[in-house]
Parts: sequence; structure tokens; C-alpha cells
Amino acid sequence: MDGLKVLLFIVSAVFVLGEECAFNQTLTNFNVTVYPEVDSAGENVTIQIPIEYKKDIFHLLIVNETLPNLCQNFFLIQNELSIVQIINSSVQEIHPGAFNITPTLALIRIVLNPISSIKKNVFNNIKVKEIDLSQNVINNIDTEAFDNNTYLEIVKLNNNQIKEINPNWFYNSPKVYKFSAIYNDIKAIPAEAFKNMDQERPLKLRLSANRITEISPDAFNSHHTIQLLRINGNKITTLPDNIFINRTIQILQVNTNKLQCFPDVMFQTGINTLDFVDNISFECQCLKKVRKFAEDNNLEVLYPSIICEDRAREVNIVFSYNKTYEIPLLPPTVDVDVYVKPDQPT
Ligand SMILES: *[C@@H]1O[C@H](CO)[C@@H](O)[C@H](O)[C@H]1NC(C)=O
Ligand SMILES: *[C@@H]1O[C@H](CO)[C@@H](O)[C@H](O)[C@H]1NC(C)=O
Ligand SMILES: *[C@@H]1O[C@H](CO)[C@@H](O)[C@H](O)[C@H]1NC(C)=O
Ligand SMILES: *[C@@H]1O[C@H](CO)[C@@H](O)[C@H](O)[C@H]1NC(C)=O
Ligand SMILES: *[C@@H]1O[C@H](CO)[C@@H](O)[C@H](O)[C@H]1NC(C)=O
Ligand SMILES: *[C@@H]1O[C@H](CO)[C@@H](O)[C@H](O)[C@H]1NC(C)=O
Ligand SMILES: *[C@@H]1O[C@H](CO)[C@@H](O)[C@H](O)[C@H]1NC(C)=O
Ligand SMILES: *[C@@H]1O[C@H](CO)[C@@H](O)[C@H](O)[C@H]1NC(C)=O
Ligand SMILES: *[C@@H]1O[C@H](CO)[C@@H](O)[C@H](O)[C@H]1NC(C)=O
Repeated sequence: MDGLKVLLFIVSAVFVLGEECAFNQTLTNFNVTVYPEVDSAGENVTIQIPIEYKKDIFHLLIVNETLPNLCQNFFLIQNELSIVQIINSSVQEIHPGAFNITPTLALIRIVLNPISSIKKNVFNNIKVKEIDLSQNVINNIDTEAFDNNTYLEIVKLNNNQIKEINPNWFYNSPKVYKFSAIYNDIKAIPAEAFKNMDQERPLKLRLSANRITEISPDAFNSHHTIQLLRINGNKITTLPDNIFINRTIQILQVNTNKLQCFPDVMFQTGINTLDFVDNISFECQCLKKVRKFAEDNNLEVLYPSIICEDRAREVNIVFSYNKTYEIPLLPPTVDVDVYVKPDQPT
């Protein structure tokens, strides 16, 4: 009986310690590369957890180490530091409070790690301008993961397994203006998808190479100016009129989708660059409209490769990448002279 109690105690103690996560890691030695200044060479340093680097440095880099758990206070840094990177180091979980870093960082970059989930209380209280969590296996992000961060401007989540854009991300993080999630599994851009992002600065949104079939008419209602919307390589068949009404999308890239035309309102909105290569089913009527608009408004365009007949004017209009030109309609085929080989002496 006592034995069982002791065993239960040990089991629960280990469980609690496991939850707390800090226990084992204090013993581990591993290597980091430290760049004291922007342009200095890296120095390899063997270090213990917590990382308490007591000098001002520019960049702290961890590559090819084995650090499955980043526990609370993994970093305990009060000296100057601008960039923290953890690359290919088997990071699976980042626990709340792992980045106990007081200086203002330009960038935290955690890439090529098997992290699947981003929890709240990891990034909320760090003074950091850019968070790059690309090339992991992220499929779950707590709604609050990026809340309450008044320093944050740029979030990159490229090459992950994200299935949806959560319109409630970035609550109380009013300076986020650049969001990038290319190569993910996103299927739709929901209503007010970016509503918590910067209200003053034009947004830059990169969502290429997903599986987007649907864009809500209200997707961008929260913003007047989108500087860049890049949604190449999706499965979009139509762009809703409403995304262009009372709104400027300055650079629109919709290469390799399933569009056949653009809404007429698009041409009234101050668009200055339009790329839509790679769909040979695009409608000729619509292409001609784009061409007219481009000529009248100095619009920069990349067209799909399509030849459209203009019977009235007896020309073919050739659309080809960044140019268009006209060639006369070929007259109906007439008999072609056949070249006959003269008899050869035998
Ligand atoms: C500490 O590490 C050892 C060996 O890797 C492992 O057996 C043990 O369960 C770990 N303890 C905790 C509390 O994580
Ligand atoms: C750290 O670097 C030293 C010397 O370069 C090397 O001998 C050691 O194995 C490295 N330790 C780890 C944990 O990678
Ligand atoms: C630091 O370690 C890496 C990996 O072991 C090695 O490629 C690099 O040359 C080392 N740098 C210095 C300055 O020793
Ligand atoms: C990490 O490992 C890869 C593959 O072994 C190697 O090419 C690369 O140089 C390593 N990086 C560092 C900084 O040691
Ligand atoms: C990541 O690290 C492992 C072992 O440290 C190495 O075998 C692998 O090649 C590295 N991958 C990259 C992309 O550096
Ligand atoms: C963000 O701030 C609000 C209001 O102060 C607070 O209720 C909430 O818990 C904070 N969220 C996080 C993830 O820190
Ligand atoms: C666009 O703006 C005009 C003028 O401010 C306003 O009357 C109209 O209702 C707006 N349309 C939409 C769809 O918001
Ligand atoms: C081009 O658009 C048409 C019509 O929506 C679609 O059926 C076709 O698959 C698209 N082509 C490519 C290469 O995506
Ligand atoms: C069109 O594209 C080609 C190749 O990228 C480039 O050399 C040329 O300057 C472009 N022309 C215009 C008018 O932009």
C-alpha cells in the first residue's frame, strides 16, 4: 500500500515536472553561434539552458541542435540583441514564456522545425518587429497567439499546414501590416479576414500556393488600401465585386487561377499592377477590356498567352506576357504551290 502511494507520488511528481518542462533542460549543453555586431563573424559558443547571454550582441543563431522543448525561460536575455534564429533544431514545442527577452528585437525566426502548434503567451509579450515561423509543420495557431503585441509588424508562416485564416488574430497588435502564408492549406479568405491589422499602413498580403477557392465579398472590408495582394496558384474562379468597392488594391497578382474575367469595378479603383498569366481560358472580351484600361491608365499588366480575334477590325490581338500586339487576320487558306523536285538524272 505504502509502496503504491510512493509510486503514485513519484509518477505524479514526474508528471508535474514534465508539465513544467524546465527540469531536464538545465543540464543540457549545446552550441550557439553569436554575432557580436551586424557585420562581425560568427563565434561558436557552448552554452547551457537557460540562455543568459550577458553581453550586448546583434544576432544569436542556433542551428542543427536537438531542442525538442523550449521551456519557460529558455532564453533569459536582458542585454541588447536584435535577431534570434533557431533553425533545424528539432523544436516540437514552444512553451509559454520561452522567450524571456527584454530588449527590442528586429526578428525572431524559427524555421525547419517540427512545430505543429503555436500557443498563446509565447509571443505576446516580446518586443519584436518580425516573427518568421516558416517551414515548420504548423497546423494550429491559438487565436490569441499574436495578440497584444504593439511592436509586431510582420508575420510569416510560409510552408506550413495552416488550414484557415482566423480573422481574430492580431487583436490589439495594431501595427501588423505584412502577413505571409504561402504554401499552406488555406481554402478561403473569410469576411474581415485581416480586420485587426494596421489601419494606417497599406497591407501586404501573400497567400499564393494555397487551395483558395473562395474569397468572401467582405474579406477586406476593414481596410481601404491593400498595397499588395498576392494569391497566385490557387483555385479562384471569381473575384467578388465588393472587394474592389471603395477600396484600392494597388498590386494584384492572380497568376495560375481559374479566373475567366475581372469585375468591371476593378477598373475604377486605382489598381496599378495586375498579373494574371497562365490561364488560357480567360475570356477575350475581358482581355480586351483589360488592354484598353491598361493603355488609358498606365496599368502594368502580365497577360496570359492568348490570341483573340477581332473580326470587325480584321486583326488578331496577341496577348503575351507583358505585351500585346496585333497581326492581320490570315486570309482563308489558298492552294499552296507545291514544290516539285526536278527530275534527277538516273
Ligand atoms: C529527464 O530525461 C531522462 C532521460 O532523457 C528521462 O528518462 C526523464 O523522464 C526526464 N525527466 C523529466 C522530468 O522529463
Ligand atoms: C559543440 O561544439 C564543440 C566544438 O566545436 C563540439 O565538440 C561539441 O560536440 C558541440 N556540442 C554539441 C552539443 O553540438
Ligand atoms: C561554428 O560551427 C559550425 C558548425 O559546426 C562550423 O561550420 C563553423 O565553421 C564554426 N565557426 C567557427 C567560427 O568556428
Ligand atoms: C546543418 O546541417 C547541414 C546538413 O548536415 C549542413 O549542411 C549545415 O552546414 C549545418 N549548419 C551548420 C550551421 O552547422
Ligand atoms: C538538420 O540537421 C540534421 C542533423 O543535425 C541534418 O542531418 C540535416 O541535414 C539538417 N537539415 C538541414 C536542412 O540543414
Ligand atoms: C491581451 O490583453 C487583454 C486585455 O488586457 C487580456 O485580457 C488578454 O488576456 C491578453 N491576451 C494575451 C494572450 O495576453
Ligand atoms: C462607398 O463610398 C460611398 C461614398 O463614401 C458610399 O456612399 C457607399 O455606400 C460606399 N459603398 C460601399 C459598398 O461601402
Ligand atoms: C483556367 O480557367 C478555366 C475556367 O475557370 C479552368 O477550367 C481551367 O482549369 C483554368 N486553367 C488552369 C491552367 O488553371
Ligand atoms: C517584358 O518582359 C521582358 C522579359 O522579362 C523584359 O525584358 C521587358 O523589359 C519587359 N517589357 C516591358 C514593356 O515591361
